[in-house]
Amino acid sequence: MSKRIQPSILSADFVNFERDFATISSADGIHVDVMDGHFVPNLTFGIGMVKRMQQITTLPLDVHLMIENPDHWAPIYAQAGVFSVTFHYEAVSNAIETAKEIKSAGSRAGLSIKPNTSVPEIADFVEHFDQILVMSVEPGFGGQSFMPLALEKISAIRRLIDSKGLDTWLQVDGGIDLETIKLASSSGADTFVAGSSVFSATDRNEMISQLREAAESAVPSL
Ligand code: DX5
Ligand code: ZN
Repeated sequence: MSKRIQPSILSADFVNFERDFATISSADGIHVDVMDGHFVPNLTFGIGMVKRMQQITTLPLDVHLMIENPDHWAPIYAQAGVFSVTFHYEAVSNAIETAKEIKSAGSRAGLSIKPNTSVPEIADFVEHFDQILVMSVEPGFGGQSFMPLALEKISAIRRLIDSKGLDTWLQVDGGIDLETIKLASSSGADTFVAGSSVFSATDRNEMISQLREAAESAVPSL
């Protein structure tokens, strides 16, 4: 099974995005963490910066909205033409309607859950989304340790996706490195966000290919 690696620019140099994007050219996409200082205790950037990022790369932008009121904002990011827009289940009022608006603007729609949100809560929503994002750290900061409780949730969502015959991508974000990626991949994840492990590497493209290789060689544990 082919697996996707998306470096998180939270670990990039915020005043040198263009230079840093050039160092991850072999990635399957760039994971763009939008934080508002309310939904999470950290602040990054908004729609203006994301629009500018689109002008300096041909890689797909995978926008992860860690913000309040995604019902309002998610469609605006989609209308800007990014590849995918993922918002948090804990923050949204109408998940299905917001997913529809993202998709009708031409982007893929993603639904994310924080570590304390259980899979049964979102079971009925899965079929409305192109990807589900399981957070394996409390969202807000890069460089945290992978939380093993994410593995059971990944397995449960993988079973849901397969039992419904869906082709939904299953993404994991937080503490992904050459070891934890194997565990997440074995549990059924197919799309991996990696911030500090990629950006701290001397050769970032080499790290991306090692991560992809580790994910692809992991044996499914289902
Ligand atoms: C955390 C962000 C992640 C973060 C991952 O809230 O959503 O995308 O950048 O960073 P690492 O890979 O360092 O845990
Ligand atoms: Zn993220």
